[in-house]
Amino acid sequence: MSIKKHIFSGIQPSGNLNIGNYIGAISQWVEMQKEYDCIFSVVDYHAITVKQKPEELKKRIINTTKIYLAAGIDPEKSIIFQQSAVPAHTELAWILNCYGARIADLNKMTQFKDKAGKNQESVSVGLYDYPVLMAADILLYNTEIVPVGDDQKQHVELARDIATRFNKEFGDAFIIPQAVVKKEGARIMSLQDPTKKMSKSDPNQNNCIILLEDIEDAKKKIMRSVTDSGSDVVYDLINKPALSNLLTIYAILGDRQIKRLEKDYSGKGYGDFKKDLAEVIEKFLKDFQEKYNNISDQEVLEILEAGRIKAQAIASKKLEEVRKLIGVR
Ligand code: TYM
Repeated sequence: MSIKKHIFSGIQPSGNLNIGNYIGAISQWVEMQKEYDCIFSVVDYHAITVKQKPEELKKRIINTTKIYLAAGIDPEKSIIFQQSAVPAHTELAWILNCYGARIADLNKMTQFKDKAGKNQESVSVGLYDYPVLMAADILLYNTEIVPVGDDQKQHVELARDIATRFNKEFGDAFIIPQAVVKKEGARIMSLQDPTKKMSKSDPNQNNCIILLEDIEDAKKKIMRSVTDSGSDVVYDLINKPALSNLLTIYAILGDRQIKRLEKDYSGKGYGDFKKDLAEVIEKFLKDFQEKYNNISDQEVLEILEAGRIKAQAIASKKLEEVRKLIGVR
């Protein structure tokens, strides 16, 4: 048995993945696979918590996998698979719905409140229950570390609570997982409103840079992004939230320290800074899209199938253990 730590994470194929998803989640995964045993899932059953068009969803599952690969997730090192191909996820979610998760927990989930807004009574039960499916995703694989962006921390906390309750009642079935977020970049903000998260479900696409978008459009979005009052390029989350967000993006995609950028741009204005950031974005997207375009659908299907077999072996073992503990076997 491997003594490397176990990592699990995933992304919903529910919209166009943007640089927030890349910076907050995927770039962390790429680093982690050097050291740990990693499993990365395309979590399609999460995506259907809101309506998806079947043909589009099918394409997005393939495209999301291509994004993992283009970013540098290596199927030789890590398991990459489609969540719905391993039925243990939904089955464990049901068991955890009954043993571990409580209505009071789900009522506290801020993402549900944000997503449901005023329609709390009319959104799907799945949207409400989604954090329990996420707990099942994590707990099936003896996961110790869950690399995510800041907005998913609360859901990982819930997975910890559910696992702790289950273990207390039935014996130690689950490892208690821990969320890990990046020091910088765990919450990339909208380009038009630095109080809002950059989000793939945002209808205003000027807010975000999509990984597969036209490069000239992306550059324009940077040039048009809001900035704060003043003209100095300094990192200051309170007084310069918009600029601090742009500095974070620059630092991560351009591989430079924020402190270094502040020095380089001292005495220069926002205009110069944005122009250079647009170039950093151009270089990053060009390289990324080139890799993406070189991956065929067939290759993706083969990788997902190989991943499914490996994931299934781990998940079904854990599920059988849980079935025995609760008395159905
Ligand atoms: P999802 O699909 O909304 O987002 C995927 C990942 O991207 C991160 N992220 C961001 N990071 C920084 N800045 C942003 N603006 C930004 N927007 C999104 C998210 O935090 C996430 O890490 N429920 C999860 C998917 C999931 C999962 C799991 C994750 C399902 N099961 C098990 C980990 C473990 C979700 O909806 O992420």
